[in-house]
Amino acid sequence: MSITVRPLSDDLPFGARIAGVTRENSRDAEVRAQINAVFEDRGMIIFEEMEPSNAMQVALSEVFGELEDHAISDVPMADEDVRGMTDFDYVDVFEIDGEEVSGWVPWHIDACYAPKLNRGGILRPILISPEGGRTGFADGIQVYRDMDPALRDRFENLNIVYHSHLMFTALKFGRPASFKPVRMRQMMADMIEAAKSTPRTVHPAIWQRANGEKVMHVSPWQAAGIEGMETPEGDALFEALIEDIKAKMLPYWHTWSPTDMAIWDNWRFMHAASGNPAKYHRRMQRTTIKGDYGLGRLEIEGSAEPIGITV
Ligand SMILES: [Fe+2]
Repeated sequence: MSITVRPLSDDLPFGARIAGVTRENSRDAEVRAQINAVFEDRGMIIFEEMEPSNAMQVALSEVFGELEDHAISDVPMADEDVRGMTDFDYVDVFEIDGEEVSGWVPWHIDACYAPKLNRGGILRPILISPEGGRTGFADGIQVYRDMDPALRDRFENLNIVYHSHLMFTALKFGRPASFKPVRMRQMMADMIEAAKSTPRTVHPAIWQRANGEKVMHVSPWQAAGIEGMETPEGDALFEALIEDIKAKMLPYWHTWSPTDMAIWDNWRFMHAASGNPAKYHRRMQRTTIKGDYGLGRLEIEGSAEPIGITV
């Protein structure tokens, strides 16, 4: 059985849907090459009608490369036998614009707090919320093309500083107008506290792919500010960039089915989780594909590797 490939949506310049991938054909060299070509071109893929098992998630992940361990050992693992199969059990509750939600994660790049940027994640739903619980994907190539040219020029050679503790309670940029933690696991509070003493990282705001395409690639989540401009003026400029990115992005919001899996290019996309009413339970599992685009670094060379937190 061969696979079928179609666009994610007729009105979006990115993304694809692929059906027909099995544990057997995922080992076939031609199928692998076809899937990887779609990934490189379209940047994210929703795999439909997948066998909903750890074995299938791993087989699909291996199409794209070697799996990576999660950057922090305290993050709960879904399967101790699978490298980096992370269990995301969204039980922390926040009040956003008057609603109690869990599973909310603002626009971000995974592991921007690390100098090496992983290639991407493969996400699979374990428990789906009957309301909300969608995952959003925004293409940095589309954002670069459509954003305010003056802001784009301003950030062409600027770098962004990231620090893993700047999340939830300590979120500095892109904070909702009305936001407060209601219930947060002690484990999460402890991880945020421990991350304060770890080194910061630096990544470019814009980078260029080998094919010449430029990517606007910024994570408000975990951002400390613009390198060398961590002043009120610099912070206002960065906040203006984030507002323009949000205004110009054409996000795709995925509503999950139990047999879906998704991959996104972490060197190109920002992603987010919409959150769901706190009365519902949502769980996801993720594997991470090893890799690096080679443009990130520790703020202070020779520091210990950062301890990361991701969601
Ligand atoms: Fe993420």
